[in-house]
Amino acid sequence: MENSDLIKDLKDNVNEYMAFIQENINKKNAMVITHGCQMNEHDSEKIIWLLDKMGYNQVNEINKADLIVVNTCSVRHSAEDKVYGQLGNLKNLKNSKKDLKVAVCGCMMQRDESRNYVIEKFPNVDIIFGTNNIWKLPELLCTSYNGKKLAMDIEKNPIGLDEGIGAVRAFDFKSYVNIMYGCNNFCTYCIVPYTRGRETSREPKDIIHEIKSLVKNGTKEITLLGQNVNSYGKSLNTKFTFANLLEEVNNIEGLERIRFMTSHPKDISNDLIFSFKKLDKLCNFLHLPVQAGSTNVLKRMNRKYTKEDYLRTIDKVKKVNPDIALSTDIMVGFPGETEEDFNDTLDLCRKVEFDTSFTFIYSVRENTPAAKMQQIHDKIKHDRFERLLDILYPIQEKKNKKLVGKTVKILVEDYSKKRNDFVTGRTEGFKLVNFKGSAEDIGNIIDVNIKDANSFSLEGEKIG
Ligand code: 5AD
Ligand code: SF4
Repeated sequence: MENSDLIKDLKDNVNEYMAFIQENINKKNAMVITHGCQMNEHDSEKIIWLLDKMGYNQVNEINKADLIVVNTCSVRHSAEDKVYGQLGNLKNLKNSKKDLKVAVCGCMMQRDESRNYVIEKFPNVDIIFGTNNIWKLPELLCTSYNGKKLAMDIEKNPIGLDEGIGAVRAFDFKSYVNIMYGCNNFCTYCIVPYTRGRETSREPKDIIHEIKSLVKNGTKEITLLGQNVNSYGKSLNTKFTFANLLEEVNNIEGLERIRFMTSHPKDISNDLIFSFKKLDKLCNFLHLPVQAGSTNVLKRMNRKYTKEDYLRTIDKVKKVNPDIALSTDIMVGFPGETEEDFNDTLDLCRKVEFDTSFTFIYSVRENTPAAKMQQIHDKIKHDRFERLLDILYPIQEKKNKKLVGKTVKILVEDYSKKRNDFVTGRTEGFKLVNFKGSAEDIGNIIDVNIKDANSFSLEGEKIG
């Protein structure tokens, strides 16, 4: 069957199941709990869209919910433990509220080990589905309401059927758009290729269509999502690249800002680097995870670039766009990391001067190649983590302080958590800025003069 026929078939089926729930189920308060990355946040937006269609109301309190969906993450051990803790609490709640339905989805459910553990230890779970078949939720709910103890369905690889479903976005002025699913890189520490399956790109026309309709509904900023956006298009067997896609998105009238997450240094092309000069809507911001600064460690991580390759790429990027803000993911304590290797990471951080960073302590993931390598002591890992932050934060502060006195454009996202007469938003370079403002500012791009800055945020004053 052609993919488009499959999608049509699927949509007809989903509609039937949704109609059943809509008509036959009375108690419909739902709560979706999301763990993990932007990919998961966006998956939860799709889940909420399906729930909305079935007539569910969204609630924020567990005690008020008739259905709880836990969207899980397995990138680190601590993320999994958090989910097990939560499912334990829900076990008690279910004892006192017999008709409560508990659904578990996301990356953990794609892993046999975690899924089997949940099935064995938490018999209170009614529904299980994965990252590649979110659209099965209405059918699984029907199966569960029809009396099945555990309604479960898992799809190993992305099969593009997400095209049939929409998303209830957390914000209407900024939106995530998937451009691809899965990952083929098999970095030796990472669980993602085993949970999200093989890399699959969406058709350019579907992506453009989705963005155009979002812009019609008020979206000003879109973030293109994929585990490795630089290899966009490879699974489509065309010459259409990620740089080509950015160019088409840049032509969409009414759209103001474009971001993307995440890039892999090995695949970043000169065309893509040049996009930062050529495309007026592409934000001056590049998140390029380096993971480690030692070529030896990078080799064992299967990253396929050296420390020098990474530094050369950053030099090119800075030459094309000297104002670009740089962000990265860095890990300490990878198996076998020596003091010399770690010093290479510190050296790279000093040379690049990242504006923002996401820092991690290596966490063993069962059945990944790195899990079988010689592990290093926890104390050493924690000590290196602290020393890494000691290098990163002052650089971040120095770079943020460079903006003091300058006027920058802020997309205002929300009220500030610090003061109730303040709002908060982000610069093109993804820096968080707080300034005095009101509800009318939320969703608008506003000129703000920067007055003060520290390592994590800036403070400013609205112009005019
Ligand atoms: N341990 C610690 N950090 C990890 N990441 C991925 N896998 C692991 C792991 N096993 C980090 C990487 C990745 C980010 C999303 O999470 O830095 O880029
Ligand atoms: Fe994991 Fe590497 Fe794929 Fe990123 S590129 S999702 S770190 S395997």
